[in-house]
Amino acid sequence: MRLIFYTGKGGVGKTTISAATGMKLASLGYKTIVISLDVAHSLRDSFDREDLLIAQIDEKRIQINENLWIQEINVQEAIVEYWDEVYNYIRSLLNRSGLESLVAEEIAVFPGMEEICALLYINQYVRENTYDIIILDCAPTGESLRFVSIPTTLEWYMNRIFKLERNLAKIAGPVIETISSVPIPKDAYFQNIQQLFDRLEGIDKVLTDPKITTVRLVTNPEKIVIKETQRAFMYFCLYGLCIDAVIINRIFPEGVEEKFFEVWKQTQQKYIEEAEDYFSGVPIWKVNLFDDQIVGEAGLCKLGDILYPNIDPADRFSEQRPYQFQKVNDVYQLVMQLPFLSKQEVHLSKHGDELVVTIGGFKRHVALPRSLASAKATGAKLTGHQLVITFQ
Ligand SMILES: Nc1ncnc2c1ncn2[C@@H]1O[C@H](COP(=O)(O)OP(=O)(O)OP(=O)(O)O)[C@@H](O)[C@H]1O
Ligand SMILES: [Mg+2]
Repeated sequence: MRLIFYTGKGGVGKTTISAATGMKLASLGYKTIVISLDVAHSLRDSFDREDLLIAQIDEKRIQINENLWIQEINVQEAIVEYWDEVYNYIRSLLNRSGLESLVAEEIAVFPGMEEICALLYINQYVRENTYDIIILDCAPTGESLRFVSIPTTLEWYMNRIFKLERNLAKIAGPVIETISSVPIPKDAYFQNIQQLFDRLEGIDKVLTDPKITTVRLVTNPEKIVIKETQRAFMYFCLYGLCIDAVIINRIFPEGVEEKFFEVWKQTQQKYIEEAEDYFSGVPIWKVNLFDDQIVGEAGLCKLGDILYPNIDPADRFSEQRPYQFQKVNDVYQLVMQLPFLSKQEVHLSKHGDELVVTIGGFKRHVALPRSLASAKATGAKLTGHQLVITFQ
């Protein structure tokens, strides 16, 4: 069982590459599903088949061929399936605040809900062993980063806040409701959250197991896109995911000689070389710009053959653990592989058995082993691409 993420900045070619990878895997005999997490879905469009647009519009999963399925996550549908009580509660809160009910319904879909829905489906497929390979076509980088942090955040919430809130609502709810206009959630709401949590259980282990899950970053050879890819690379490391390939897409092919593209070609060359420095250790695959947009099964197959000429897309191309614990001369160390990091950006704090590493606006709660829970984080040193945190 494999779970492969394709992510990157908007428009770089994620959906096209996900679809092409799905076609290739299916042709190799793997039972494959490509799931699109993007709100503006285009996965179906990239197959360019009339019958997909009309006939199966209501179906959750669409079968493309003997071994290939696609699924575009529909958050409204997923809410009915998984979120009923939570959604109703939030909607009732928003409604009482004076919002029109249609607007309240729209806003009650809070940030992260789509991502959790995708995780719910994925965890179900993993538990039931429905597919050999799950390909995830992620939304642009920002959203996919939030997505991978959800299981940690949720566990934190369940352990720290949830029980307290639930008991409080039970005991004090009836009293508060007589004096306040804010509805107190009923126990069904808490039951719903508990159920969600149970359904998500184990997904964090799946996401951070490099034997199961790897991330492939899609990028273009341009300054701003490469910059964002660098940040994404670092954050995925921070969140404990394994990146096993970087794909540079839309490279102008050799044959293009027109004067108009001369500077473009130099720029691309510069950033291809830089990318090779930035992402050293991880294989880089290059894809030229085609002479037309890539839609339809023939185009996707051609792209699949270029991407994976003599390789199996299901393989793992790098298995480096993003962080690990070690003991050197009686001193415990947490070693995090964090490329592109400058020292002043890192902030460490410790809360009981958790170390909180903050980099810019992102946070990672690293659960510490028992022997480190009572120790103090005394220093952080950046050597090469490693952040070494020592404990005393
Ligand atoms: N190598 C390529 N050569 C030619 N066209 C390409 C190539 N890669 C992608 N395209 C085209 O670029 C367009 C955008 O690609 P795609 O939808 O896959 O990007 P995306 O990263 O998924 O975008 P979004 O962030 O909006 O989801 C599509 O029309 C696709 O056919
Ligand atoms: Mg897309």
